[in-house]
Amino acid sequence: MGLPWAGLWLKRLWVFLQVALHVAMGKVLLTLFPGRVKKNILAQNPNFAYDMWGSTLFSIPYFWFILKVHWQRLEDKTEEGGLAPNCPVVHLSGQRSNIWDFMQDGWAFKNNVAIRNHRNLQDRLQAARLLLDRSPQCPVVVDTMQNVSSQLYAALPERLYVLQEGKILYKGKPGPWNYHPEEVRAVLEKFNS
Ligand SMILES: *[C@@H]1O[C@H](CO)[C@@H](O)[C@H](O)[C@H]1NC(C)=O
Repeated sequence: MGLPWAGLWLKRLWVFLQVALHVAMGKVLLTLFPGRVKKNILAQNPNFAYDMWGSTLFSIPYFWFILKVHWQRLEDKTEEGGLAPNCPVVHLSGQRSNIWDFMQDGWAFKNNVAIRNHRNLQDRLQAARLLLDRSPQCPVVVDTMQNVSSQLYAALPERLYVLQEGKILYKGKPGPWNYHPEEVRAVLEKFNS
């Protein structure tokens, strides 16, 4: 019990140092060469409106968020072909179920929207209603406030999976840079043919 626990915290410490270095270097570069950093970021994803998030980069909240994301990835419990964690989720009606309950219907997320941190389940359900406004062709459920699904699926900030019969058929890479809904389409089309 003692050792794995210490191991996780050692890894967390290592990740903490890496993220601190990344943010500090980013901040210095952004201050010294704002034009070049902007060009670099836009080269990674030309569809991102720089004005929306450029000034938020390498700030203290940015640091905490990136740290949370990378710490969470240390607890990633998923791999393609592996068992899909059957995490609890909540319907918009408030009814509770588990991810596997949706296995027959398929499972897909649509585009993400900028939403404040949820302080309680009501906030989270409210946010999920934004999805319903776009008439998704699938059931929409949210994580519980313990964020188990988010954690075991290493889902932050966004991630796509295709699950079938309790197995992970497809595991997408984390967004925003490596988030590719079209890969899900390809997997589903291949599967359907
Ligand atoms: C779950 O995530 C929300 C943000 O969406 C956060 O406010 C809350 O503290 C998290 N819960 C736990 C148990 O970490």
